[in-house]
Amino acid sequence: DKKITIAIDGFSSTGKSTLAKELAKELGYVYVDTGAMYRAVTFFAMKSGYIAKDFFEVQLLINSLKIIKLEFKFNPELGFAEMYLNDVNIEKEIRTLEVSSYVSKVAEISQVRAKLVEQQQEMGKNKGIVMDGRDIGTVVFPDADLKIFMTASPLTRAERRFKELTRNGDTVTFEAVLKNVQERDYIDTHREDSPLVKANDAIEFDNSNITKQEQFLKIMKLIKS
Ligand code: C5P
Repeated sequence: DKKITIAIDGFSSTGKSTLAKELAKELGYVYVDTGAMYRAVTFFAMKSGYIAKDFFEVQLLINSLKIIKLEFKFNPELGFAEMYLNDVNIEKEIRTLEVSSYVSKVAEISQVRAKLVEQQQEMGKNKGIVMDGRDIGTVVFPDADLKIFMTASPLTRAERRFKELTRNGDTVTFEAVLKNVQERDYIDTHREDSPLVKANDAIEFDNSNITKQEQFLKIMKLIKS
């Protein structure tokens, strides 16, 4: 079979990564979570003291981009790749609500996007890839063979994210999670560089009311056709 490129975009916590992982597993493709890359740069900025509640040293972060090395390393026990920042596994650290509260501000910076998009395009140059994010079908792979755009109501998404964070031991309130989902939706859709928008040729899925399994089967059918 000819290998294809699958681009999955959409709002936060729409189940993009779950779907992308399942598709990659079924097809024997590589899965790339581009949100993890933006989260890793954000974590770097936090660790370096460039971003905190009331300030953001954008220029210092931009100057540091050349010393940021991002890698995905496959973890055979988990069955998926984990994010490494300068050779350190930061998979757990990047999933907190604190990182989520800054990440959309970091993702607005064009220099950050340029660096990550270049690396993403390199990873996908041999096809056989499922990539999820916000700008995959519009900017990273405008010629992707299959583009999926996922939506769900903010409440459904916040509930999902709240369960996930609580499961990972993050002590958060539902209100704080909902607020974060809404803030990121706003920033991600209004930024100047590569805003979150459905590509003209993307197929839209609202999964507020369909099960993961139904959705997966529908998409596998699309791929086979
Ligand atoms: O997918 P995830 O929720 O982990 O993404 C975190 C944030 O990273 C998004 O809210 C968005 O600001 C940014 N992002 C982006 N472009 C991508 C992937 C993520 O701007 N391709």
